[in-house]
Amino acid sequence: MRIAVLVSGSGSNLQALLDANLSGEVVGVISNRSDAYALQRAANANIATCVIKHSAYPERTTFDAALHQQLLEWQVDLVILAGFMRILSASFVQQWEGKMLNIHPSLLPKYKGMHTHQRALDAGDRTHGCTVHFVTAELDAGQALAQGVLNIQPNDTAQTLADRVHTIEHHIYPMVVEWLCSGQMTYQDGFITYHQAPFSEPEILYFNS
Ligand code: GAR
Repeated sequence: MRIAVLVSGSGSNLQALLDANLSGEVVGVISNRSDAYALQRAANANIATCVIKHSAYPERTTFDAALHQQLLEWQVDLVILAGFMRILSASFVQQWEGKMLNIHPSLLPKYKGMHTHQRALDAGDRTHGCTVHFVTAELDAGQALAQGVLNIQPNDTAQTLADRVHTIEHHIYPMVVEWLCSGQMTYQDGFITYHQAPFSEPEILYFNS
């Protein structure tokens, strides 16, 4: 599997993927921001990088077309969104259906969108975490494949939660990517299998501290 990772920021999830000894190969990293530290991480690992600035494209669809072109050039099989903070157009998502994953810092379907840690605290939730899911046109709504769950502690803040969720993300994202790279998980016409059986429920991993 030839993998492209799309990033906008620090790239700690990219790093976890690079460190994970996947059976697929990360062949390129695309960022919509030239100052993303993730680009440095990719360069350190001798991986091709490409900056496609969303500000240079007045329309979402032309930005997405540039992304698509780069992915084709790299002959990518799997697209991994790792802190990529742009909403993708429905037509782009459709072209990568079943071949694009995202990680989101909440226990979906709770807290789609932004400020997930503060929203979990404000709601008085006892647990929080992150979700790896297939990307569909509807934001943060594709089939969840795995979730990492932690207990919220009385002294947690949005920042401590963000840090703790990050640590969990670095475990579950490479795990799910490997499912696809190794063929343990397949996707065909909207039908997902895991170990040759129909997949229905996301795998839940508990990380208690
Ligand atoms: C991660 O926490 C990821 O879940 C989140 O951005 C962070 C990126 O961190 N993604 C989203 O919020 C997407 N909606 P990283 O750049 O260190 O991997």
